[in-house]
Amino acid sequence: MNIKLDSLFNEYIKNLSPKQAIIRGENAIRLDKGELPYPPSPKVVQAIAETANQINRYPDVLGGSLRTALADYTGVSPEQIVIGNGSDDLIELIVKIFLAPGEEVILPRPTFFVYSFATKVVGAVPIEVARKEDFSLDVDAIINRVTPQTKVIFLANPNNPTANLEPRENLLKILEKLDSIVVIDECYYEFCQETVADLVDIYPNLIVLRSLSKSFGLAGIRVGYAITNHKIADYLYRIAQLFPVNKLAIAASRAALKDREYIQHNINQIHQSKQQLIPALEKLGLIVYPTATNFLFINSKPLGITSGDLVKFLEENNVLVADFGGKQGLEPYYFRTAIGTQEENQILLQALRSQF
Ligand SMILES: Cc1ncc(COP(=O)(O)O)c(C=O)c1O
Repeated sequence: MNIKLDSLFNEYIKNLSPKQAIIRGENAIRLDKGELPYPPSPKVVQAIAETANQINRYPDVLGGSLRTALADYTGVSPEQIVIGNGSDDLIELIVKIFLAPGEEVILPRPTFFVYSFATKVVGAVPIEVARKEDFSLDVDAIINRVTPQTKVIFLANPNNPTANLEPRENLLKILEKLDSIVVIDECYYEFCQETVADLVDIYPNLIVLRSLSKSFGLAGIRVGYAITNHKIADYLYRIAQLFPVNKLAIAASRAALKDREYIQHNINQIHQSKQQLIPALEKLGLIVYPTATNFLFINSKPLGITSGDLVKFLEENNVLVADFGGKQGLEPYYFRTAIGTQEENQILLQALRSQF
């Protein structure tokens, strides 16, 4: 049949880069995705097992029981919680409800790549504003880039990949000055305990994003949530799928939210490992930036090697870390590594010591 398939694709989608499925080596030390290295609590595993024989049934509509559990955890009402298939899902819902083609989204760069990706999917325009030398926000530059087309600003706090935490007063300045939607992505909240969730009833343009992927160690089950006001939550749910989170994910998340002791123990371990890993990396000559997360952002320039080469060398030694060299305006010397188990961190250090 003579169909001109190319002419049928949405123009905005045609401009996106192709993606490839990747299967990571089962035996590799995986520090590239910012994951928690510990397995889920036995209570989470038990909850999944107990739910497994009910998966002939649909999950709660709009994740009802999980919304209630998250409302308890965060101290807001269930109507202020929007759940999704990871916070990635919520980022996509946010751009869909606020943005028309050609409208603008401010992104302090470098930052989490999904904001820019989701913006382009709906034909809106990412406006990148450089961060300062220490990766903190350039608040004045952000305010100066606002135009009548600006609809949304995404601020990851702490930021990925740079790991730094922005002081609350700067976020307040932005909230005071901007009429647009301000999304504060607190994916790493439990590691730093800094939040602006208490402000959602004060600023009607504020959405706080959270995730169970990192501190709760449930990256594979895909649950994220937004905390906001009733009106924005209502609009997000208007376009959400009726079953945004699957039944096993709901059971696992509810069990994880109850097992706080286990979660806190893991967080403490990450903080302890960080205290050992950072000086060891610095001793090798690497620059390690301050971190409020479970990962480190590192500059390889003092070693005279690009991060691309360093990441390749580590991969050859079975250790996966994420290369940011040359990306989003960065020099070719930056990479990110998750804090692994004590053993994984030692393997990372041994590989580096063997070469530098
Ligand atoms: C800042 C930030 N937001 C959101 C996400 C995505 O989280 P989720 O696994 O909940 O989709 C990540 C993942 O790395 C992140 O770093």
